[in-house]
Amino acid sequence: MGKDVIIACDFATKEQTLSFLDTFTGKKPFVKIGMELFYAEGPSIVKEIKKRGHKIFLDLKLHDIPNTVRKSMHVLSSLDVDICNLHAAGGSHMMKAAIEGLTRDDGTRPLLIAVTQLTSTDQETLEKDLWIEKPMDAVVMHYAKTAKESGLDGVVCSPLEAEKVHNTCGKDFLTVTPGVRFADSSKDDQKRVLTPSQAKEIGSDYIVVGRPITAAVDPVAAYERCVKEFCD
Ligand code: C5P
Repeated sequence: MGKDVIIACDFATKEQTLSFLDTFTGKKPFVKIGMELFYAEGPSIVKEIKKRGHKIFLDLKLHDIPNTVRKSMHVLSSLDVDICNLHAAGGSHMMKAAIEGLTRDDGTRPLLIAVTQLTSTDQETLEKDLWIEKPMDAVVMHYAKTAKESGLDGVVCSPLEAEKVHNTCGKDFLTVTPGVRFADSSKDDQKRVLTPSQAKEIGSDYIVVGRPITAAVDPVAAYERCVKEFCD
């Protein structure tokens, strides 16, 4: 898979999601399905979108004991999604178990990427709540390295961290980055944002874009603008 724009389909229902995707006549954008939609609609929404020919990043961020994650990933692998994820905080045993569970009998599996630290976690939360007394940057890089050593394919990170992740874990280790905004659009609740062309320059492999596309007056035009800035 090369560089691509992934649309965060943060809709509450199957109907809203499918009618949004219906507007992309002739195009099959890569879509991200998150917890809200998956918990509301279940595996059938994944199967339906897959049947329509889209690639899917299933953003469920698993984090549990290795045995539970192994078995859950095995279920997800049968949905034929393209990317799944988990929390690196679950540790290397959990990440290795996830790979085992995801790997199908023929040896194929979806890409597996790790959340290092949520972008909603700041230095204060890290120290006060999680009792991690290291700089955020060092924690993110350590978790990325552990994910790589456990056999994962990449991480979800801020576009501002993508370059450093590549320097630490290699160019082939994927960086999937949310927090992307057009220069002339609202930041919404995202704090540290980059434009699609800045994300490209900095070396993100995939950008995850939600509201700048889903809430645009013309979502298809907004998607095309993202692709032009990021992929061309
Ligand atoms: O609408 P917006 O472009 O902000 O959507 C970004 C998407 O990426 C949302 O689905 C959000 O949950 C997700 N995400 C994020 N920051 C992370 C991880 C995931 O914004 N660190």
